[in-house]
Amino acid sequence: MHIYPYLFILPRSPGLIVWNYKDHTQHELDLNYSTRLAQLISNPDLFDPHNIIDTQLLSAGILTVSKIDNPPWGWDELSKIYHIGTQNIPCEHSPQNIHEWSRLYLAHCNEVLATPAPTTDRPMHAAEQRIALPLPRGLNDDSLGNALLQRKTCRSYTGAAMTLDDVGTLLYLSLGYLHERDLNRDDSIAQDLGARRSSPSGGGLNACEGFLLVRNVDDLEPGIYAYHPAEHTISRVNPLPQPALGDLLGGQHFINNLPLGLFITARFDRLWWKYEHSRAYRMAFVEAGHLSQTFQLIATALGLNTWLTGAFADKQVETLLKIEGSAEQPLFFVGCGESDGQVMCQEMRDLLREVQA
Ligand SMILES: Cc1cc2nc3c(=O)[nH]c(=O)nc-3n(C[C@H](O)[C@H](O)[C@H](O)COP(=O)(O)O)c2cc1C
Repeated sequence: MHIYPYLFILPRSPGLIVWNYKDHTQHELDLNYSTRLAQLISNPDLFDPHNIIDTQLLSAGILTVSKIDNPPWGWDELSKIYHIGTQNIPCEHSPQNIHEWSRLYLAHCNEVLATPAPTTDRPMHAAEQRIALPLPRGLNDDSLGNALLQRKTCRSYTGAAMTLDDVGTLLYLSLGYLHERDLNRDDSIAQDLGARRSSPSGGGLNACEGFLLVRNVDDLEPGIYAYHPAEHTISRVNPLPQPALGDLLGGQHFINNLPLGLFITARFDRLWWKYEHSRAYRMAFVEAGHLSQTFQLIATALGLNTWLTGAFADKQVETLLKIEGSAEQPLFFVGCGESDGQVMCQEMRDLLREVQA
């Protein structure tokens, strides 16, 4: 007999809460159950099939007959609990199509808006103590200023094809290792850690990577592709998933026809190598955020619109990217394409009109 490896135990008088953070279940144990569990933790071979408590601990999944695979994790248990505990969140019902998504999302927003919003301003700074700042002037190169002003999240795409040229530009300028930076490389940087991107990277490790989801790009077969930043090449890892993209991305079916997406992943093993403390876990997400924004600004400068999400089915995405069971984890998704520039999809706009009529 074995103790299920993805458990933590919280003292909550008068008993204990055993939290299965992988399967998202909790069990409250009284003194008898807690005492017996402590005995079994100390020696799992004490398991007695005639003891009712033992059999209940087994059927609750706190004990397991076979040893459960537990891949290596390079930081402390706290970050592991948080990482795994916030993955594959059970969803009672994921919207099956764009109409259902619109109805459920509108109901959710109405529920949220029915409760008071947190104050938007910092409370202790009076208006008369504030110093007005000069208005922004034009930047030397207008394209950055324009991209910053024009980037917006759109939820209505035409599905039109993108060019391979645009994909190359997007990938090189967001994730590629910039040859231009080779020319002014600092001698003090350790060998093999000199690759630089347009976005900063924690420890210069370039822990984040990218996988392209290609749905409609000229001269490129639809599918999932790994991007190789040193060579600026891609290689196909899988065909497009069978279910609609929205099924993978939290039921958000309005992006089913996005021509291009990018899954941003992080190689935790690279961070483990240099940063022992789990605070570095936070840095993986910060780095992904930098890459996501850079990707969106480039796409905007190319005349495309953008969309982004962190809501996805982790397990299915890992399988799609062929990184399941590894130290590489998907963190974020960003996509782009031709859009009518609408913040909301047509179905949601129709629904709002219907509700307001
Ligand atoms: C971390 C993060 C997660 C987001 N997730 C979603 C999402 O799941 N679905 C979505 O439609 N928009 C998502 N957005 C987009 C926001 O709704 C959007 O940025 C916000 O409404 C501000 O609009 P703007 O991007 O046009 O400035 C996300 C944005 C961020 C930064």
